[in-house]
Amino acid sequence: MCEILRLAFAAVFVLVVIITIPTKSMGADKEYGQYLSAECNACHAPSKKSGAGIPSLNGKPVPYLVSALLQYKNKSRKNAVMQMIAGRLDSEQINALAAYFSSLGK
Ligand code: HEC
Repeated sequence: MCEILRLAFAAVFVLVVIITIPTKSMGADKEYGQYLSAECNACHAPSKKSGAGIPSLNGKPVPYLVSALLQYKNKSRKNAVMQMIAGRLDSEQINALAAYFSSLGK
């Protein structure tokens, strides 16, 4: 009887792990965005004002950032560097980056 209970608990535990892992990584995750932003900060400086020609992303609305990145990705917005960078991002990463940069103060 005890053995059956232990098996049941183990099964429930495994199920919970299987269900939580994918849902946790879904949606706009600011921490994930912060992790991904290391690459962006080489050009889009995080706290100080970005250098000439490179717009700061801080505090811009999420929909603005998402659509800018999607436009670079589908090449309807021109910039060779950003097209290459956005081309490698999937929609989860784009959402996470937008959530992160948008949450920063200007
Ligand atoms: C090698 C330098 C460089 C890197 C690295 C870089 N960017 Fe950019 N980014 C630029 C430049 C330059 C522009 C302005 C291009 C233009 O005029 O359209 C730009 C524009 C943008 C814009 C549009 C901003 C606006 O106000 O319209 C977004 C959004 C953006 N980048 C996001 C990112 C993200 C997210 C990353 C990291 C994954 C990143 N960039 C990495 C150079 C860079």
